[in-house]
Amino acid sequence: MISAASLTALLTVAALAPRVASHASIWHNSMWGFNVTAQTYSYDNRAQVPLMNMPFSQWWFHGHLDHPPNDGDFFELPAGGAANAEISCDKGSTSWFASSAGGNAGYPTDNVCVGQPMSEYHTTGINDLGGCGLGIVYESDVTQVNPEDFAIFSTNATCPWTLNTDFQVPAAMPACPDAGCICAWFWIHRPDSGSEQMYMTGFRCKVTGASGTTAIGKPALARRCGADPANGVQNATPSNCTVGPKQPFYWDQTEQNNMFEGLYSPPLYTDLYGYVSGAQNDIFQAATVNGVKVFGDNGDPVPISAPPAGSGSSSSAAPAPPASTPAAAPSSSPVASSAPAKDTPAPAPASPAPSSEAPASSKAAPSTEVPAPAPSSSAVPTTAPSPVNPPPQSLAAVTTATITTSQAPASTKQCNSSKKRSHGAKKRHLGRRLSHDLH
Ligand SMILES: *[C@@H]1O[C@H](CO)[C@@H](O)[C@H](O)[C@H]1NC(C)=O
Ligand SMILES: *[C@@H]1O[C@H](CO)[C@@H](O)[C@H](O)[C@H]1NC(C)=O
Ligand SMILES: *[C@@H]1O[C@H](CO)[C@@H](O)[C@H](O)[C@H]1NC(C)=O
Ligand SMILES: *[C@@H]1O[C@H](CO)[C@@H](O)[C@H](O)[C@H]1NC(C)=O
Repeated sequence: MISAASLTALLTVAALAPRVASHASIWHNSMWGFNVTAQTYSYDNRAQVPLMNMPFSQWWFHGHLDHPPNDGDFFELPAGGAANAEISCDKGSTSWFASSAGGNAGYPTDNVCVGQPMSEYHTTGINDLGGCGLGIVYESDVTQVNPEDFAIFSTNATCPWTLNTDFQVPAAMPACPDAGCICAWFWIHRPDSGSEQMYMTGFRCKVTGASGTTAIGKPALARRCGADPANGVQNATPSNCTVGPKQPFYWDQTEQNNMFEGLYSPPLYTDLYGYVSGAQNDIFQAATVNGVKVFGDNGDPVPISAPPAGSGSSSSAAPAPPASTPAAAPSSSPVASSAPAKDTPAPAPASPAPSSEAPASSKAAPSTEVPAPAPSSSAVPTTAPSPVNPPPQSLAAVTTATITTSQAPASTKQCNSSKKRSHGAKKRHLGRRLSHDLH
């Protein structure tokens, strides 16, 4: 029996709680942006808000470099042990709820998104998880950290599934400098539930119980090398994997991507990209592909020994411009050439990988002849693929000084999947999405 008073209290809580607490982040007082609320920025830039189509300043450390953790707050990484991270749609349902704007929103719980459907953390079930990873840089000054410095030292392929998520820490991890290391949590979900996007939450970390003295090697780009039945690849190709230290995936942004896979073939922290779930014990060596070092002793990429015809000359160094649909592209990025159209087969990015073989994603853009999965009963709108959850008007109107385009900040379009895409991919994806809670 609920009394009128407690009902009122409940309704009040509901009214005060963030209305849509979707998507997810790790939460810890060592993170950048720990106390950022939906109002701190001119757009909702809380850590759980996904990153897509953003300029570098907005996606790097989630744009939170001006919200550092307090001195002395570290996330501890026990060498050879497991670190528990709390991953949630809402800080209020983690052990850090006391400093959440909405107060306790379900803590204690092991539910990633309390009271919300799985689509809020972008999965259709336990077999539809893309994994997530933790990266580290042995540097204490965050301003000295560059994207290519991060090495993924731990992944959890069944992430995010529970709020409490374990990350195994390699036993050989050396100690950090006294002022700590810089870490970050990275996540890209599978394409089956929700808009394509990336997550990055930076935090200060420290290795405890360290006895290792060998430094992590220079991180290389991970390569797609696992079985990928959804894209017609039945068997893994281990010789195509990058072995050793690997960079995080920077994807789906307007600047400084290092991955150019199509929107429906996202790079994932799973065996699809050579990540065993758990500790990455192979990071204390040089990165190799098929036994060949990716970087030479001077740190430069080793020249490609047998480039495919036509791909080695300097004239083709720059990625070709998108072949079509330039109008739909978020075109005004100052470094637009770094982001080829995502639906066109990716030109091999200026990649240190020794071989540039086939363009990444013949699989990324399914041929338009392939019949789209019959989209159940209702007619498929042929124009806009998914008018899902349009952003609140007030947010859509917001712009920030750092954005040079006239677009609203990408984060306000967190549920807007109306991205440019090939007709085939559009239909295929729409077919899939129709069966899910659109988000
Ligand atoms: C976050 O807020 C809590 C309480 O409101 C405060 O104690 C803590 O110092 C804040 N942390 C940061 C990093 O601002
Ligand atoms: C991933 O996290 C879950 C939940 O904490 C845990 O049960 C599992 O062992 C972790 N996987 C690995 C490989 O550490
Ligand atoms: C090898 O990896 C590259 C880079 O990720 C990818 O483009 C290519 O499709 C992969 N080839 C195979 C056979 O998996
Ligand atoms: C989604 O974003 C595109 C451009 O990025 C815009 O044209 C479209 O109106 C938006 N759709 C919704 C539903 O907000």
